[in-house]
Amino acid sequence: MSLEDRVNPHIRNLRPYEPGKPIEEVERELGISGSIKLASNENPLGPSPRALEAVSAAAKTVNRYPDGACFALRARLAEKLQIPGDHLIFGSGGDEILELLAKTFLASGDRVIMPWPSFAMYPLVAQGMGADPIRVPLTAEMQHDFAALTREVAVGAKMVFLCNPNNPTGTSFGAGELADFVSGIPEDVILVIDEAYYEFVAREDFPDTVALIADRPGTLALRTFSKIYGLAGLRVGYGISSPELVGFLDRARHPFNVNSLAEAAALAALDDDEHATRTHSMNRSGIDYLTGEFEALGYRVWPSDANFLLVETGSGYYDELLRRGVIVRPLAGFGLENHIRISVGSPEENEILVKALQEIEQAGQQHGGGRQ
Ligand SMILES: Cc1ncc(COP(=O)(O)O)c(C=O)c1O
Repeated sequence: MSLEDRVNPHIRNLRPYEPGKPIEEVERELGISGSIKLASNENPLGPSPRALEAVSAAAKTVNRYPDGACFALRARLAEKLQIPGDHLIFGSGGDEILELLAKTFLASGDRVIMPWPSFAMYPLVAQGMGADPIRVPLTAEMQHDFAALTREVAVGAKMVFLCNPNNPTGTSFGAGELADFVSGIPEDVILVIDEAYYEFVAREDFPDTVALIADRPGTLALRTFSKIYGLAGLRVGYGISSPELVGFLDRARHPFNVNSLAEAAALAALDDDEHATRTHSMNRSGIDYLTGEFEALGYRVWPSDANFLLVETGSGYYDELLRRGVIVRPLAGFGLENHIRISVGSPEENEILVKALQEIEQAGQQHGGGRQ
């Protein structure tokens, strides 16, 4: 019997997650240098300087296993969120929390409802357990279609993912929409609200998921240190939920799932308000600048509450930008052929991107083509 015949069928059929291309790989392949990466919604300011100091100090003790309970990080975050510490679960990135949810709750044949396009890990973790991902298309305005999601839940659902703001569209939903949706679905459906971009949100009626969890214990809000805190490479994220749900995830995780450097960095970054505030305001002005420039170029841009923009450019722009050393995210795999997702960069990076797009447009006009 071949190895292929022995692999779990639901793993055999998985297509691995495709991350944004690393700069080094693009430069090697194209023989170019000085490229910029606006593809993975990272923090262009870099990590918090306080986090870097904490990492250097913690590096001296990496001969020891980390604190598997994340005692110090848990205590500080609980204080910040004004919740008891047993409402928190930490993971090697938010990705691991998604995997823990799947491992803990999903089995073969379970229906898992999710908006689509949305974060690519939702169908992956569901399929990894043999469950069925049910993708519910966004509305034409790239919003969660709550009526359609509710209908799918009514057919049967073990778990629902919502993504707010949604990746890859940047669009968000408000407290009223969430409250209506929650009141229309059964209590026993596990509700996961992914708030990876929470700290970038501008809208005032953004849902208070911490309060929701107190009323609906089968709910988990997912957040991460990868985005505004600039610690994507260290891998640390967390879930906020009821102690009961956290307790089950805790049984499923391996004992040292957050490494000691990540824990030290996250703890320090939490108290670096200056870095978070600078990141937030740089992101907001980047969104305003890029939105204006994209509209001037004739592209459609969706309003974003995150640190990236969904842009309808026309086809071929991912490759054209790549040739000019600008890495963005192609979205053809999500059925959005004419769109790209662009992470907001530093002011300099944003200008390089806009210049590259202007160059592409000019070259198109010279060839009599323009936008396709
Ligand atoms: C919507 C969403 N959820 C979760 C994650 C996971 O982030 P991490 O595993 O880096 O914490 C990401 C990362 O891009 C994301 O976009």
